[in-house]
Amino acid sequence: MIKESYEEIIELERQRQEHNVELIASENFPSQRVLNACGSILTNKYAEGYPGKRYYGGCEFIDMIETKAIEDVCKLFGCKFANVQPHSGSSANQAVYRALLKKGDVVLGMDLGAGGHLTHGHKMSFSGQDYEIYSYGVDENGIIDYKQFEKLLNEHNPKMVIVGASSYSRTIDYQKFKDILDKYAKKHDGERPYYMVDMAHVAGLIAAGIHPSPVGIADVITSTTHKTLRGPRGGLIITDSEEIIKEINKAVFPGIQGGPLEHIIAAKGICFEEAATPEFKKYAKQIIKNAKAFSEAFINGGFKIISGGTDNHMFVLDVYNSIGVTGKVCETELDKIHITVNKNQIPNDTLPPLKSSGVRIGVPAMTTKGWKEKDFEKLAKIIMDYLKIVKEEKQEEAREEYTKKVVDLIESVKK
Ligand SMILES: Cc1ncc(COP(=O)(O)O)c(C=O)c1O
Repeated sequence: MIKESYEEIIELERQRQEHNVELIASENFPSQRVLNACGSILTNKYAEGYPGKRYYGGCEFIDMIETKAIEDVCKLFGCKFANVQPHSGSSANQAVYRALLKKGDVVLGMDLGAGGHLTHGHKMSFSGQDYEIYSYGVDENGIIDYKQFEKLLNEHNPKMVIVGASSYSRTIDYQKFKDILDKYAKKHDGERPYYMVDMAHVAGLIAAGIHPSPVGIADVITSTTHKTLRGPRGGLIITDSEEIIKEINKAVFPGIQGGPLEHIIAAKGICFEEAATPEFKKYAKQIIKNAKAFSEAFINGGFKIISGGTDNHMFVLDVYNSIGVTGKVCETELDKIHITVNKNQIPNDTLPPLKSSGVRIGVPAMTTKGWKEKDFEKLAKIIMDYLKIVKEEKQEEAREEYTKKVVDLIESVKK
């Protein structure tokens, strides 16, 4: 039943976040400083335009905030130019398409089913509707198929290629893609497609220096700020090219957005500052250790993981081919014992998206809550045991016992 007040509902959601194990790979718990900025009076201000070139008066302090956020993100990733106004990762991606391409241009991106994002060319997204898309995927081992990428590049001569993923658990070799593009350029009078990287999922790991960076390799890079980077919900675009940033700035405003969310931009700035600290680096290293321990516990329990493991913050558990439970059932049943995951298709999935064979599992949020390898190993055992019970359709009787196990585990880490 809908409650009387928004505050009551927010409190319910706060409690859910406190009493659930959050395993959604794209979620995190930002700091109180970030939250305070999001809820600050900066939300009152209109500031269409960019620092020093606004369409409204009274932007003196807003300009300071946006300029500082741009400086901080450039320092963090070691790049020259940034636009911190995109309201989301999808808006950032849309701005890149609008900045560099004409409608109908050819784009080569990673297939959604193989781990790519909707905005990398799915037919239900603006990207698949307004552009001519070709998609590369992963090989039989679940690793990016660089050979297929090269073949499609040579066959279709795209105007832009997109590298980056929403559910890919291996290190992405940005330089290898660049080498393929350079080889292509040699055969085409030095011309090659724009090279765009969407680093949304691994941005925090890149900031911490524990995943290769696309900066200095790709022409333009987009990201969200709310995943491993642990900031507010939002997007950003960075580049070393003055020519490209000019086009990007026009595409973001007035191209696809109006007034920037300066409260969110302040929160982004705070997250860039936080991501540059030694504490954040330690956090990012713990993410990798936790994801490895968690995935290995599943493998040791006889479960299949796409690509056989993880190098980053997440992995896709192939529940359907491991124990015959669909991703959808897994998502619904785990939710009932306070574990939040999302169903996810596996490469060449035999089930439709709304059922899916897999679930995507990520550790950034619980790592923020202080979870270590042993906690994830305990959780893997609870999940595997419970899913076997689900398979036997005996979960009704077991639910209370398993909920208690999960809640006890959450509480044990708090102590
Ligand atoms: C790789 C990638 N790019 C872009 C996005 C889109 O971000 P948003 O949900 O902020 O639009 C996502 C979101 O999950 C993503 O995984």
